[in-house]
Amino acid sequence: MCGIFAVVNDKNKNAAQTILEGLKKLEYRGYDSWGIAVKPLQGKSIKYEKHVGKIGEAKTTLPKSSLGIGHTRWATHGGVTNLNAHPHLDCTGRIAVIHNGIIENYQQIKKNLIKKGHRLLSETDTEVIAHLIEETLKSQSVEKAVFNSFNKLLGSNAISVLIFDKELIIACRKGSPLVVGIDDKNNQYFLGSDVPAFLKFTNNVYFLEDGEGVIISKNSIRVFYLRSKKEKKFKPQTVSWKVEEVEKSGYPHFLLKEISEQKETIGKTATINDKKIIQVANLIKKGYQPVFTGCGSAYYCSLGGKYFFAKSKVQSQAYSANEFIPFARLTNKNTLMIVISQSGETADTLISAKEAKKYGAKIVAVVNARGSTLERLADVTIPVSCGPEIAVVSTKAFTAQLATLYLLSEAVTGNLKKAQEEIKNISLVLKNWLNENLLKQLISLSKNLINEDNIYLIGKNFNYPAALEFALKLKETSYIHAEAFAAGELKHGVIALIKKNTLCFVLAANDEVKEEILSSAAEVKARGGKIIGVAPFDSNEFDQLVKTPDLGDLTILANIIVGQLLGYYLAVQKGYDPDKPRNLAKSVTVK
Ligand code: G6P
Repeated sequence: MCGIFAVVNDKNKNAAQTILEGLKKLEYRGYDSWGIAVKPLQGKSIKYEKHVGKIGEAKTTLPKSSLGIGHTRWATHGGVTNLNAHPHLDCTGRIAVIHNGIIENYQQIKKNLIKKGHRLLSETDTEVIAHLIEETLKSQSVEKAVFNSFNKLLGSNAISVLIFDKELIIACRKGSPLVVGIDDKNNQYFLGSDVPAFLKFTNNVYFLEDGEGVIISKNSIRVFYLRSKKEKKFKPQTVSWKVEEVEKSGYPHFLLKEISEQKETIGKTATINDKKIIQVANLIKKGYQPVFTGCGSAYYCSLGGKYFFAKSKVQSQAYSANEFIPFARLTNKNTLMIVISQSGETADTLISAKEAKKYGAKIVAVVNARGSTLERLADVTIPVSCGPEIAVVSTKAFTAQLATLYLLSEAVTGNLKKAQEEIKNISLVLKNWLNENLLKQLISLSKNLINEDNIYLIGKNFNYPAALEFALKLKETSYIHAEAFAAGELKHGVIALIKKNTLCFVLAANDEVKEEILSSAAEVKARGGKIIGVAPFDSNEFDQLVKTPDLGDLTILANIIVGQLLGYYLAVQKGYDPDKPRNLAKSVTVK
C-alpha cells in the first residue's frame, strides 16, 4: 500500500532513473499514480515529476542527480490526480516528502498550518508533513524538525524526506515498513518499503523498527530513536532472496510464474520448519487454544486451518482480522494466535495480533516475507519461504501457508513425518498434472467464461474454504462477480439465485462429503444451472470436469490452483493486467 523508494549517492549520478526502476519493483504496493523528486547536481531547487497511472514503460526526464525519493501511490485521501500524487512540497519548494500510511490527525494539523499562513494545494493527508517540517525548521535543526514533525503524526506511517539544502535523505517509521539497503561496494544507499526495490544492488539490509528514524548521507547511515533522538547501533543483515526471484524469468506475468512455482514451493514446506512446527504443536498439546486470523486469502487459509485442526480433534477459531477486535477480549494467556500473512505488514492483521498480545496471547506468525512487523512481534515465526510474491493476488504464499497448517495439524497428532511425506509426494504429482493439456483446457474454459456476469461456487468441508479462495481469485483478476457458498447453505436462500444457465463450479474431493456435495450439484442442475466440476472424479451432475489429482484432504490444493489459473487466463482474455488488478494493493498497510 504505497511504495517508498530513495537513493543516496547514486553511482551513475542518475538517481531519477534508479528510482524509476525501484518503483517498478514496488508497484505491487499501489499503482494509481507515481512521482519522483531529486536534488539536481546543478540548479537551485528540487526537481520533481508526478503522473497518474501505472509506471509501465515510462521514462524520466529529470536532471542528473545523486540523491532522490520516489513513490507509487494507492490513494486513501484525495482522488487519483497529479496534484495528489507524491512527492508533496512545502511552501518554499525546498522540502519534498513521500509517505505511506494514514495521518489520523491531519485535519487538525492542516487547520493549524493554514492559520500560520501555509498554502496547501492537494487533498492528501501527506502534504501536511512537508509544511509541518517547514514550520518546525524555523526553530530546530533539520534532523530534529523531521523527527519531531513525524512524532506529531497519529496513525501508522512511514515517510522519506528530501531537503534541498542538505545532501541526505531522512526517513521515519511507525507502523508502515521501511528498509535500508547498503551497497558498500559502490558506496550507494537505498531506502525502500520492501527489499525487491533495491535487490538488484544489494541484499545487505537493515529493517527499521517502529519508532526509529534514519539519516542517510553518502558518508554514513545513522539510525535514531525518534522519541529520545539517541543514536542506535544497528546491525545490517543479509536477505537470501535472489534477483531472478523478482524478475519474470521468461514468463509473461508474475502471476503465471508464481502459480507455476507452486510445483516446488508446496513441497518445500515439508522440508523446512520442522523444529518450529513441533514447538508450536507442543504448545497446542499443552493446552494452548489456537485462534487463526488473517485478511483476504490469508483469512481463507485460516479457515482451512480450522478444518484441518478439527480433523485432528483440536478445537480452534478462525477470524477475519478485520473483524477480530470484538472477539479479542476472549483471548488470554492460553491463546495461541496463529497469524497468517504473506507480507507480515497488513494493518488489520497486525492490529489483531497486537490486541491479542495485550491480553497475554502467544503469537505464531506464518509468513512469507522476512523481517516484517508481524515477525518482530511474534513469539514464534514459521516462514514459508516461497521467495518474493510480486503479483498482487496471493497464490504460492497461500498454498505454502495452507500446507504448513496441514503439517501443524498433523504434528499435533504425532503424524508430522507422514504428513511431510504426503506433501513431498503431492509436489511430484503437481509437477505431472500442471501440464500443457491442463493449461489448454483452462484457456479454452476461460474463453467461454469471459462474458459471464455471475459465477457461483460451492464446496463442503475442506472444499468450502477452497471455494472461497477460488472465487476470490476470479473476482480479483477478472472482475466477474464470483460468490462461493457452503454447499449445504444453498437451500437456505442461495438457490433462489439459480436459473437457466447459471454457472456453478462444484469443488469436490474423494472424501466423506462427496455424495452430499453431488446432491447439492444436482439441486443446482435441476434448476437449469450449468455445472463445472473441479474434482478428481467425474459425475453425471457435471456438464464439464476439470480433473484434479486425488490428494486426499489436500485435493483442495489442486482445486485452488485451477481457480488461480482460471483467474489468470480470464484476466488475459479480458485484456486486464493479471499482476496488478484494479483498485487492489498487495500489502494493505492502512486499516
Ligand atoms: C491484500 C491482497 C490479498 C492478500 C491480503 C492479505 O488484500 O490483495 O491478496 O491476501 O492483502 O495480505 P497478507 O500480506 O497479510 O497475506
